[in-house]
Amino acid sequence: MDVREALYTTRAMRRVRPDPIPEAVQARILDAAIRAPSGGNSQSWRFLLIDDPAVKAKLGPLYRDAIGTLWESFYRDRLDGARSTPEDPDSSSLLRVQASAQHLADHFEDVPLFLVAFTRGDPSGGSIFPAVWSAQLAARAEGVGSALTSVLGIFHGDQAMEILGVPPGKGWTMACLVSFGYPTGRWDVAPRRPVHEVAYRNSWGTAVGFEISEPLWSP
Ligand SMILES: Cc1cc2nc3c(=O)[nH]c(=O)nc-3n(C[C@H](O)[C@H](O)[C@H](O)COP(=O)(O)O)c2cc1C
Repeated sequence: MDVREALYTTRAMRRVRPDPIPEAVQARILDAAIRAPSGGNSQSWRFLLIDDPAVKAKLGPLYRDAIGTLWESFYRDRLDGARSTPEDPDSSSLLRVQASAQHLADHFEDVPLFLVAFTRGDPSGGSIFPAVWSAQLAARAEGVGSALTSVLGIFHGDQAMEILGVPPGKGWTMACLVSFGYPTGRWDVAPRRPVHEVAYRNSWGTAVGFEISEPLWSP
């Protein structure tokens, strides 16, 4: 696959089939991920794959509780506002993300594969998320959808780490949990605020010098 196609179409694909992901595909995803950069090439990371139904059954209730807490805390006001103006494009976009994220939570145990990324001595996450994104891009090239999630680590990180047998007191933190599966929907270009609204040149607020009204790659 062309690298630009992967960059433009790797989205949060949370609706997936339960079909297993072959081990050879899993190996290619992880082997691509560990090529990513890390500060000082420290590679202070661990990746844990989860496909055992018994482990998923332990994490699923925690994940659902975490996402429920998210809706009731950080997102409460925004969701209330969106529900009162559902025709507004920003509202409908937020409500779509919520429905999709809730679907993942409700079907957690049916997701064929999860990857949990752990990091150490990396409070910003700057040395783990390049590898995580590489895993997602590599999965895209295999036709495997993925969704990066952080709620489990935020709200139930200690319990999840205990379930996963992470050695305590060694400085490991759970950076994220990524779901993987063959998507039920189709791949599409990720809609985003355009470059000229979020990029400057030489000083903050100065126009970057070009306007891009349509994505520069399309299928
Ligand atoms: C740091 C980070 C944390 C995220 N946490 C969650 C999460 O806990 N649950 C979830 O369903 N999606 C989560 N996402 C996925 C985002 O919601 C998603 O990337 C965003 O809505 C854009 O989706 P799109 O690429 O399909 O347009 C997270 C993404 C990032 C980068």
